[in-house]
Amino acid sequence: MSSARQVLPAARIRGRVAVPGDKSISHRALVLAAIADGHCTITGRAVGEDQDSMVACLRALGVRVEDDGARTSVSGVGLRGLRSPEAELDCGNSGATMRFLTGLLAGVPGVEATLVGDASLSRRPMARVAEPLRRMGADVGTSPSGLPPISVHGQQLRGADHHLAVASAQLKTAILLAGLNADGQTFIVGRDTGRDHTERMLRMLGVDIESGDAIRLRPPAAIPAFEIEVPGDPSSAAFWLVLAVAHPDAEVAVTGVDLNPTRAAFLTVLRRMGAEIEVGDEAAAAGEPTATLTARSSQLRATEIEPEEVSALVDEIPILAVAAACAVGSSAFRGLGELRLKETDRLEAVATQLRLMGMTVAVEGDDLLITGRRGLRGARVSSRGDHRMAMSLAVAASLASGESEIEGAEAASVSYPGFFEVLDQLAGAH
Ligand code: S3P
Repeated sequence: MSSARQVLPAARIRGRVAVPGDKSISHRALVLAAIADGHCTITGRAVGEDQDSMVACLRALGVRVEDDGARTSVSGVGLRGLRSPEAELDCGNSGATMRFLTGLLAGVPGVEATLVGDASLSRRPMARVAEPLRRMGADVGTSPSGLPPISVHGQQLRGADHHLAVASAQLKTAILLAGLNADGQTFIVGRDTGRDHTERMLRMLGVDIESGDAIRLRPPAAIPAFEIEVPGDPSSAAFWLVLAVAHPDAEVAVTGVDLNPTRAAFLTVLRRMGAEIEVGDEAAAAGEPTATLTARSSQLRATEIEPEEVSALVDEIPILAVAAACAVGSSAFRGLGELRLKETDRLEAVATQLRLMGMTVAVEGDDLLITGRRGLRGARVSSRGDHRMAMSLAVAASLASGESEIEGAEAASVSYPGFFEVLDQLAGAH
């Protein structure tokens, strides 16, 4: 049963936070470990229901996955060792789980599987994955309107040339996972293919993959066993950074955050809004740059986000909208069509919920227009069951005057269990 969670305005924000491991990198690490030759170890893996969905599916496919809280051990079964599950694979709320496993299973001859999801995932587009896989010879079915459930009958695939119709890293990853087992090379062209964790991780594992204007993958004979340490999730860090820069009395340090350029564009946007965010302790993990980010109270001004920027900050739009609500001037975020296809229609959800908090927000086509002022008002709002909406609204409520209630706040645990406890600590509520 979902009940509303009360969030009070925070008088002061202080603290140092280590966010959970990056969800995107953790999903990729799990999938690649599952098809590696032998025993793999993942430390700092993401927590949350999306990860649980991926682990449960991999177990159902015959992979041993053990977790002691600090490290995850995966006994890889090799490139073609996955076996047919006895029941439907339940991907829960996780688009990455459904799309990655579709790509992976499509190329394992003899495997038969049906992938299902919760009510939200059951409304998300899967034809974008099924169609390119079919060009590789895959036998992948969706509902007539291109929605889940997905049926997969594993086949020997052939490499193909793909032109990505949408800038989706989930789609790209599904194709690359299929390409690992294909005969011949897989090419992907497209102006923008989103976050590049899959390419980095495959390269780190010695797979022959080139990326630049196009991606070229030559299928490997095997994926070697590996150990990997997952850096902190920048999409989770973004909530604390916006809370700090938009609050009049705040300083927050977030440690070990992944700063892959295909993920860190929200920092560029926040800085051009006048946000004071320092980068320190620069290091690397999992073939990715990392750093500690320290943010403090700043005078925010409005900004414009252009369509070509969106893929590198797609998950941060809701929290950037909260920053824009606290900035001086009118902000315009353009080209947000993909946001309509996330866990909920985030474009519509951001506009409706911020309006309830007293903001002037318009949606024009796929653009979001926010008139900022320091004047968020406490209200009863709803996450619509979407984790990033729940956390963005909690930050907005902490910055508002008056008390708020967030319906569906528990959705935060899809990617950030413990989010509200950290919020209480930063606000000095304990
Ligand atoms: C992800 C890619 C993005 C993002 C999602 C995770 C990934 O989705 O929104 O949270 O791990 O590849 P799309 O690739 O569909 O844009």
